[in-house]
Amino acid sequence: MKLWGGRFTKQTDDLAFAFNESLSFDQRLYHQDIQGSIAHVTMLARQNILTDSERDQIIEGLTSILNDLENGSLEFDPQYEDIHSFVEAILTERVGDAGKKLHTGRSRNDQVALDMRMYIRDEIPVLIDLLKKLREVLSRLMKEHVETYMPGFTHLQKAQPTTLAHHLGAYFEMFGRDISRMEDTRERLNECPLGAGALAGTTYPLDREYTASLLGFRCATANSMDSVSDRDYLIELLSNLSLVMMHLSRFSEEVILWNSNEYQFVEIDDGYSTGSSIMPQKKNPDIAELVRGKTGRVYGHLIQMLTTMKGLPLAYNKDMQEDKEGVFDAIDTAEHCLTLFTGMLDTMKFNKPVMAKSAMNGFTNATDAADYLVMHGVPFRDAHGIIGQLVLTCIEKGCSLDELPLDEYQAICPTFQADIYDAISLKTCVEKRMTKGAPGALLNQYK
Ligand code: ARG
Repeated sequence: MKLWGGRFTKQTDDLAFAFNESLSFDQRLYHQDIQGSIAHVTMLARQNILTDSERDQIIEGLTSILNDLENGSLEFDPQYEDIHSFVEAILTERVGDAGKKLHTGRSRNDQVALDMRMYIRDEIPVLIDLLKKLREVLSRLMKEHVETYMPGFTHLQKAQPTTLAHHLGAYFEMFGRDISRMEDTRERLNECPLGAGALAGTTYPLDREYTASLLGFRCATANSMDSVSDRDYLIELLSNLSLVMMHLSRFSEEVILWNSNEYQFVEIDDGYSTGSSIMPQKKNPDIAELVRGKTGRVYGHLIQMLTTMKGLPLAYNKDMQEDKEGVFDAIDTAEHCLTLFTGMLDTMKFNKPVMAKSAMNGFTNATDAADYLVMHGVPFRDAHGIIGQLVLTCIEKGCSLDELPLDEYQAICPTFQADIYDAISLKTCVEKRMTKGAPGALLNQYK
């Protein structure tokens, strides 16, 4: 059953139909499609293009379709090409001739553009909510761990001591930016393309601003060709989702490292780990690995969409039907990853003594030892050289700077006094880093 049979003398080839159809995946737009149609006919009747009775019959029919789809008594019928054809055909079956007037002053081109905008507009708050839940867990952990010492790394080499709160705070910022990007995208896409028609508007006296306001849009879109051929908002969303996934993936990589036997900084809860079929001792961080792995899949959808749009002449082209599966999959993937990652983080155990011990090894307090000399009038470059020598001594002796006896310090530089040990303790190293954004400032903020 097609919307456009009149001009044709032959049926579509079966394979061509299957290749062309989108109902199998655009059925998830049914809610937005029906909502859009209700607004459209409400406007048509207000403009005296339909009678009030036709409007009422159509709205009643559309509402019954929505209810039946939702309660499962109506199923999507694969003989229809897409969600738009399906809804219109069922409507006409149910309300007769009035149903045939639904599509007055409209094209599937502006209709599908509307449906996708509304779908994304509905999904963004779901994504923001998941990002907020993740940030709530991070915020709880940050409060609990302002004094949980750990090494900070550069080049994956131990660099300077910091706290778990500080490390997690970096992710708190990343997911905060992700939320603001989602809000920007939602704001920018919130213009209504309905009434653009196939590409050049219509000859009916539509009130596009009225339809836009009925559907909660800020305004109607400005240019009808752009309205039916713009998919920027999908590319923006995919780009936002790629960044979310990139952040989750970096975090996952750290969780995988921290959970390894070599680090033992964390233990992932049994609920978020899996075993090995052969090695009985194994507890694998599969959830974190899958989140990291699925990042590539979301990036792929971004590249696909950019490539699909590249070189498309104005206005609508069927290539644009390819805008759906990747976007839907990217949204589903990101939502699953955010949910699972949040659960894993919420139940993860942090091994504080191991983290603190690791911060003591690897000379993470060497900068602070140099700063001690600077405080006593030694120029920083000289202090750097002196501490370098002391580190070599420690390596030979197999000890840390905290364990090196005072006479060894003084043999290299007499400026050192007994208070050097306090000056290079983890506690001091952290507490003295008071600049905005540093672990000491965070400690003050939460205490
Ligand atoms: N299923 C189509 C899509 O997703 C709907 C628009 C069809 N428009 C057309 N001129 N064939 O893009």
